[in-house]
Amino acid sequence: MGPGPSPRPGPARRPSRVALAVLLCAALLLSPPVRGAGERRRLACSTCRGIVDRFNQGLADTAKKNFGGGNTAWEEKTLSKYESSEIRLVEIIENLCDSSNFECNNMVEEHEELIEKWWFKLKKKYPDLFKWFCIETIEVCCPAGTYGPDCLACHGGSERPCHGNGHCDGDGTRGGDGSCSCKKEYTGQFCLDCSSGYFSSLRNETHSVCTACDASCTGCTGEGSEKCKTCASGYVKEDEKCTDRRLSKALDVKFVCFATQHYRCADSPRAFVIDTQGKKTVIATPFDLDQ
Ligand SMILES: *[C@@H]1O[C@H](CO)[C@@H](O)[C@H](O)[C@H]1NC(C)=O
Repeated sequence: MGPGPSPRPGPARRPSRVALAVLLCAALLLSPPVRGAGERRRLACSTCRGIVDRFNQGLADTAKKNFGGGNTAWEEKTLSKYESSEIRLVEIIENLCDSSNFECNNMVEEHEELIEKWWFKLKKKYPDLFKWFCIETIEVCCPAGTYGPDCLACHGGSERPCHGNGHCDGDGTRGGDGSCSCKKEYTGQFCLDCSSGYFSSLRNETHSVCTACDASCTGCTGEGSEKCKTCASGYVKEDEKCTDRRLSKALDVKFVCFATQHYRCADSPRAFVIDTQGKKTVIATPFDLDQ
């Protein structure tokens, strides 16, 4: 079949197989975007997940709708008949997709027979529809902790991808590359190292926990202002600790200035001084700590 005039003026809505094949080859040959394919695989998995969620919702809804609450033999028999009936399946399938959701309707249409097969023959043996349908049968998803076309283990292992300190790219889908995006406290390929401004408070074969350095530090080796690598701005090294300049012994009183961000207690009614005995005095006159 060529692109020439069709013998019949029949439905022209479907492109011919040849045209599709040519397009597919062109797409494969010309476009290197593995990312595009990966994105489509991710989308396919989330579509499938959505379908299964709606299926389970449909199961719950139809269970309620048809349960009279009674317990007669007649009811039990009718109920158990309905339970696995085609009527119930049709009811559920009708509500799997919003009409505007093209991907979803497409997927359901394409695999309706599989869903029927599962409903009538396989659901006892494979009660987890998501696993049977999305992962094992149409192969658009992967088990949690795995990614990509072959469901390989995420970086850091499938048990706890990224050591529980980040997100594995493509986790649970046929897309992605398994690499980690770490939470802000962590860094490195496996999210085991601490970001700057954090120190390692626990590290063993499987776990790594990083904790924020004290506010007085710029980088630290442990907890508290004694473990600073260097002092943060506004802090000075004193007695092996980083101390708030305003509380430094270099001054004979301790200052707290709520009024400004700077070390300048301007003539604000909220600026005050606490002396070494703890006595609080509101400062009435302009005061400059930098002097
Ligand atoms: C590593 O630390 C975690 C968190 O405290 C703990 O649950 C786990 O058992 C530890 N593993 C080993 C091998 O010590």
